[in-house]
Parts: sequence; C-alpha cells; structure tokens
Amino acid sequence: MPATPLNSTTRPAPSQDFTIRPLEAALGAEVLGLDLNQPLNPEDFARIHGAWLEHGLLVLRDQRIAAEQHIDFSRRFGPLQVHVLKQFLLANHPEVFIISNIVENGQPIGLGDAGKFWHSDLSYVELPSKGAMLLAQQLPEEGGDTLFASQQQAYETLPDELRQRIEGKRAVHSYTARYADEVFKGVRRPTLTPTQLAEVKPVVHPIVRTHPETGRKGLFVNENFTTHILGLPEDESKALLAELYAHSIKPQFIYRHQWQANDLLFWDNRALIHLATGCPSHLRRRMHRTTIEGDVPV
Ligand code: SIN
Repeated sequence: MPATPLNSTTRPAPSQDFTIRPLEAALGAEVLGLDLNQPLNPEDFARIHGAWLEHGLLVLRDQRIAAEQHIDFSRRFGPLQVHVLKQFLLANHPEVFIISNIVENGQPIGLGDAGKFWHSDLSYVELPSKGAMLLAQQLPEEGGDTLFASQQQAYETLPDELRQRIEGKRAVHSYTARYADEVFKGVRRPTLTPTQLAEVKPVVHPIVRTHPETGRKGLFVNENFTTHILGLPEDESKALLAELYAHSIKPQFIYRHQWQANDLLFWDNRALIHLATGCPSHLRRRMHRTTIEGDVPV
C-alpha cells in the first residue's frame, strides 16, 4: 500500500523568527517579528504564553490582522466573552467589542469612555476576564495612551498594617457602579435593558487574589467596578478602598503605552489594572477588544 503523503494538516507549522524584548518599564514586553496571519506552532505559542505570564503585558507590533485572526489567537488562551453592550459588538463577530469615540449618523460606533477609570476587565462577573487583546484600528494624532499598573507589585509593597487590614476580606463588584454617575454627568451611555441588567448582577471577589498560573498574589479591587468591602461600615469601606487605590497606581508600578499603528496589546487582567487616558474629542480613535474568560478569583 502506498504511504499516506504528509499534508499540511499533519505537518506542524514552522517556527516563526520573532523576538521578545522586555520593556524598560515596570512591566511588559515587546514582541517583534511575529505574524499572526501565519499559523503558530505549539512551541511558539508556549513562548508567547510564558512571556505573557512573566511580563503581564505583551505589545505585539505590526499585526495587520483581520477580526478572524484576532479571534483565533485570543481563543488559543480560552473561551471568549461577549460584552453586555451588544450594540457595540462587531458585525458578525460578537467576540469583538468596539471601543471608539467615533459617532456615525448620530450614533456612537463603540463605547466612547471605556477604560476611563482604572479597572480589570469584567471584574464584575463571576468569571472575570483572564486577559484581553486590544487591536489598534484607528489612532488619533495625539493622546489615546493606555496605562497599566502591576497589582502584584502593588500587593508586594503594601505596608504590613494595610496588608493585615485586607487579609481575608472580600469586595463587591458591579458593572453599574459608576454607570448612573457618568450618565448624570452627560456621558453618552446606552441605557441597559432588563435583560442586560440581569446579565451583570453584582458579584463578590477576594480583595487579594492568587494568580492561578503563577501563584503570585495581587490586589483585585478597582475604582471602576468595586462598590464596597463586605463586612465594613460604608465610611470605613470607602476609606480603605481609597487607600488601596492610591497605593495601587504609584508611578513605580505603571507602564504608559503610546500606541503605534497595528499594535496588538495583550494583558493579564489577573495581574494588572489599566486606564484609557482618552484623546481630544475632535480626533478619531477606534480599537477592537477581545476578552478571554478566566477562573473564579481565589
Ligand atoms: C479598555 O479599558 O479595555 C480600553 C483601553 C483603551 O481603550 O485604551
């Protein structure tokens, strides 16, 4: 019997020639020379995965990819989440959430103020996002930077007294924590339907979480979605959260990303929080984000 010829489905993809270079910053590494239009073999995938866990954020340069490749690469890390604001999902690709200040025909094409407060993506659900991948589509000539802060470095440098006060404590997270405030201030945000509200019921997570893959501990509260600490009077809870927030964004824990065309950023939401600094309103910014489901924080 003739031998079965090897075809492209049985042959592993060749290794790609790419470099991972740590950023000169508190966190993050740059990935140069990788092409996500090409298949990624298990060894290359393992290099990327390992670097992501080590640095918390990867800046994958020059990714001229379509939504399909963005989704496929994201899926290699786990199931994808679909954002509650269905009106801002990319047509035919509900895994892609549009973040944009662009208004077309009187309608915003994406969430305009996403990331205006420090947060970890989807900390308001039972299974918060493990990681997110944000792909630059249209960048403003100025502004639009994104800041990242290591919550593991923040935890490790907490004063002992503060660390003891949060030991074993849990906090409530809610998608709508700041929603009404923002609408009240004139920020354009869609009203949530009863179905959407039911999708984002408040949840409780530990204030300190242990990273399920690295074992490192990090702070897990954020000014965007955390409403209060369980078991404390309101004023004490507010004061303690304020102390934690002030510590969690000390300059030494922060990396500021200035976007370049075709950047794909991939961050670990279990280790970092992030903030979008915004851009002048007359300039246009459009980004596509996928989020990967994580574990119950412990
Ligand atoms: C986000 O919070 O995911 C958005 C960050 C950004 O637009 O820079």
